[in-house]
Amino acid sequence: MNTQQFDKNHPFLASIKERYWLSHGNSLRQTHHVVLDLAGSGYKYDSGDSIAIIPVNVPEVVMRTIAAMKSFPDCMVIDKRTQQSFTLEEFLSRKANLGAISRKLMGEITARQPVQGKKLHLEWLLHEDNRDAFKAYLEVHHLWDLLDENSEVNFTPQEIADLLMPLLPRYYSIASSQKVVGDEVHLTISRLHYMSNGHERFGVCTYYVCSLAPMNTPDLPVYIQPNHGFTLPSDTSIDIIMVGPGTGVAPFRSFVQERIKTEATGRNWLFFGEWHEETDFFYRELWEEAESLGKLRISTAFSRDQEHKIYVQNRMWEARDDLYAWLEKGAFLYVCGDAHRMAKDVESMLIRIIECCGGKTEQEAKDYVKALRVDKRYLRDVY
Ligand SMILES: Cc1cc2nc3c(=O)[nH]c(=O)nc-3n(C[C@H](O)[C@H](O)[C@H](O)COP(=O)(O)OP(=O)(O)OC[C@H]3O[C@@H](n4cnc5c(N)ncnc54)[C@H](O)[C@@H]3O)c2cc1C
Ligand SMILES: NC(=O)c1ccc[n+]([C@@H]2O[C@H](COP(=O)([O-])OP(=O)(O)OC[C@H]3O[C@@H](n4cnc5c(N)ncnc54)[C@H](OP(=O)(O)O)[C@@H]3O)[C@@H](O)[C@H]2O)c1
Repeated sequence: MNTQQFDKNHPFLASIKERYWLSHGNSLRQTHHVVLDLAGSGYKYDSGDSIAIIPVNVPEVVMRTIAAMKSFPDCMVIDKRTQQSFTLEEFLSRKANLGAISRKLMGEITARQPVQGKKLHLEWLLHEDNRDAFKAYLEVHHLWDLLDENSEVNFTPQEIADLLMPLLPRYYSIASSQKVVGDEVHLTISRLHYMSNGHERFGVCTYYVCSLAPMNTPDLPVYIQPNHGFTLPSDTSIDIIMVGPGTGVAPFRSFVQERIKTEATGRNWLFFGEWHEETDFFYRELWEEAESLGKLRISTAFSRDQEHKIYVQNRMWEARDDLYAWLEKGAFLYVCGDAHRMAKDVESMLIRIIECCGGKTEQEAKDYVKALRVDKRYLRDVY
């Protein structure tokens, strides 16, 4: 019998059982549904939890980095954090962050750069007054193109290894209820793909999990990251409102599965948004089935199906009287997905709705939202 305990320090090696594109037709979205097999891990998770995945760097990027280091894959290096020896290829694949460059590494390159013009430019970037320019420079450079642009500078592989930051796990909201799927974890992953500094780049973890990792092979290190409050109310008669555009819908698939399985009597209302209804209506069958059972109300916002943008908060506004009535009756409100714009705009709309429907001043509406937060009835999981 396997008695090993798996956790953050001893991650379980999961295998990928299933993965497919969630978008249909000729959609430009790259969102995938991924099913991991956790059988044998002993992991238990609740709705609202995330899973941490420790990824592997893209092999072409590792090879380009080794070439830019003027080294070779079998060269041995020591991981300064654990004192373990690795081949350079192994170290760069599994241990090192090849995307983010530390100030210390930039400083070393600057100090060793013999070409005066390049040295002056690097010194300028490192100057306290030029923090924004430095940040912008780092955003579009990965290790290999930084080294290529400074090919006059020489380091030993160990010197570079010592200056790299560690490859960190990525978190993904769990899109399944364990009460329904048992030893599986379902995920909704947007595969990151973009151009920077004239080069095509892929997100490390999303590209690995959605495209590179072999199927049905137990070698994906994972552990459960508990939700810290972003979970269903223990009283199943409480109504819930879920706002989850894009991959933000992930935990709400878990919530809806769980509410149906546990025969919760509280009402469920989902606001979902994506680009196009025809191609990007993720999990449409599940929502429509739940709707037909009287277990879900769904409001959708397809941002690119018309000339002007329609977002989830526009749908909230259109249904403001109902939404406010649900809140007044004690509903929990959940928001998941993009932290940079969506979550802020949804909160501004929430304040506007409370002002309008509750006859409150802006300050009173803000206090209402604050009280919801304090009561743990307004919960966000944004990234
Ligand atoms: C609690 C939590 C839950 C999450 N849940 C989900 C989820 O359910 N589904 C999901 O898909 N993601 C989720 N994420 C995000 C996820 O953890 C990763 O951050 C994301 O998948 C990117 O990982 P990556 O390794 O593929 O990309 P990385 O290799 O880490 O690349 C990301 C970096 O690329 C850079 N970048 C991105 N776009 C551009 C651009 N256009 N130009 C220049 N640089 C750019 C940015 O520096 C960005 O930080 C969640 C995050 C958290 C914290
Ligand atoms: N893997 C990655 O790292 C990766 C990949 C993609 C996105 N992201 C980031 O991850 C987060 C989630 O991305 P995602 O793929 O889930 O979807 P997303 O990019 O957040 O898009 C989902 C839907 O939300 C809409 N939207 C855009 N701005 C909005 C706003 N201010 N308010 C409400 N809705 C808005 C989008 O419309 P429009 O696009 O038509 O404006 C789209 O219809 C974002 O931070 C995004 O930048 C990360």
